[in-house]
Amino acid sequence: MKKIRYIFIGLLVIALNKSILAKTDSHGLVRSGQYSKGALLGIPQPDAMKQSLDSVYSVGTYPLYTPELTPGEGREIIQGYCNLCHSVTYITMQPPLAAATWEDEVYKMIKTYGALIPEDETRQIIAYLQAHYTPENRRQ
Ligand code: HEC
Repeated sequence: MKKIRYIFIGLLVIALNKSILAKTDSHGLVRSGQYSKGALLGIPQPDAMKQSLDSVYSVGTYPLYTPELTPGEGREIIQGYCNLCHSVTYITMQPPLAAATWEDEVYKMIKTYGALIPEDETRQIIAYLQAHYTPENRRQ
């Protein structure tokens, strides 16, 4: 008698599960066909861009004003090494910096940004910056 009751309960559980699962078939917002081409919520999609090999693009002239560095020993070395990554305007656009700050700045370029400058040239670059771009001696 007990067995029959268990079988009956088992069948009941299976039947209930089936009806619950049947309802979750269309769960969420995903419906078949929703993602097909051109059917994205009914908004028309642009045509794929046509590319051609003879396209011409033009841009205006760039503002390339770079002030002259103060003449002095070491200026050519600076122009050679510092221009590799950015213009020397990066020097002139700074406020007058203390001598020690220029030294730190040049070593920052070498250690942090990977500038390849030999030690001898590094010393000359620092000497040039300290001779022309500190609060005591900067003229332009
Ligand atoms: C290997 C590339 C490289 C070289 C060579 C280089 N710099 Fe820089 N420099 C950078 C980068 C990167 C920045 C940060 C750029 C930014 O923030 O727009 C920078 C920024 C600067 C700045 C702005 C202040 C700062 O700390 O960000 C100064 C001043 C400067 N450089 C000076 C120099 C001088 C002087 C030299 C030559 C000794 C030099 N740089 C050589 C990569 C270089």
